[in-house]
Amino acid sequence: MNEGARISATIGVKALTKRFGAISALDNLDLEIEREELFGLLGPNGAGKTTLISILSTIVPPTSGSAEVCGYDVRRQSHEVRKRIGIVFQDPSLDDELTGDENLDFHGRLYGLDAATRRSRMEEVLNLVDLQERRRDLVRTYSGGMRRRLEIARGLMHRPEALFLDEPTLGLDPQTRRKIWQYIRSLKESFGMTVILTTHYMDEADQLCSRIAIIDRGRIVALDTPEALKASLGGDLLELETGGHSPEFLNHLADMEEIAHLAETDGTVILTVGNGESFIPRCFEVAQRFSVQISSVSLRKPNLEDVFIQLTGREIREEGTAGPQERVRIFMQTRRR
Ligand SMILES: Nc1ncnc2c1ncn2[C@@H]1O[C@H](COP(=O)(O)OP(=O)(O)OP(=O)(O)O)[C@@H](O)[C@H]1O
Ligand SMILES: [Mg+2]
Repeated sequence: MNEGARISATIGVKALTKRFGAISALDNLDLEIEREELFGLLGPNGAGKTTLISILSTIVPPTSGSAEVCGYDVRRQSHEVRKRIGIVFQDPSLDDELTGDENLDFHGRLYGLDAATRRSRMEEVLNLVDLQERRRDLVRTYSGGMRRRLEIARGLMHRPEALFLDEPTLGLDPQTRRKIWQYIRSLKESFGMTVILTTHYMDEADQLCSRIAIIDRGRIVALDTPEALKASLGGDLLELETGGHSPEFLNHLADMEEIAHLAETDGTVILTVGNGESFIPRCFEVAQRFSVQISSVSLRKPNLEDVFIQLTGREIREEGTAGPQERVRIFMQTRRR
């Protein structure tokens, strides 16, 4: 890495590893995030997202490797890093027995802001997250979405250069989630802030982030813009219900020039082709030749879930607390273009 590249990147991570006993939470990770990016870390439960955020925000030390935030080393210059970052933790961390105002004021004091600055910043951040009307109420009377908004507001009080949001919309209803997306976008625009967020919501990463690192088992398995990640699958996704497993049919499909990827689970065949619509009639021809009945066909554009499945053979589970479910999928990777 040359000197210029290091200065322009808000975050630079080199060969970062974190072990908890036998568990490798982060495994030799390299990553650079530029100033004013809205960067997403997308991955299933236990992928290592929180661990990475915790190391970057100096809460947890790495086992090996290095990480710089805003030009400072997280280990040797943790104080300098802390002054420049804001963090919204995955687990709620507001004081329920204080009002919204008091929570913000307390945070401002921790960062050494004088009374006048605290007052004006509170106005600013409360407006941004639409909580002016509830600012004098105890936090324990807030809804989940209001708490999340107040936590974001608190993370902004000291005007950080980089803001870490660990699962900013976990468990919130779709309307509130969209509202929080709006705040996050406006933060970047109003303050030129670098925002790094973690999520296991595919749509969140897709709609909000300029670049996404897909992270799985402590490793980055793909990193690009959402558009490029989806385009990497090589076209449309065609799903065929065939009622049964037919190796001959699948082998024939796998040999076809047009098909970039092919997978099958319990008679459901998913394939990626450049132009799905024109390929459907050919599918039926081939199926007929092998006496395979196609009971339904659906055609769609790939999403980030498809990208994750293609890379790992597993699904990201959006809801619940269970870990990523192993799915038996036969991947026949044919030719890549
Ligand atoms: N303090 C700890 N002690 C032991 N193991 C830990 C600790 N913190 C994290 N781990 C383990 O490290 C791995 C990565 O956890 P991490 O919290 O970073 O995942 P995550 O991607 O944030 O997951 P989630 O989506 O569930 O928040 C997991 O296997 C987890 O059990
Ligand atoms: Mg986490």
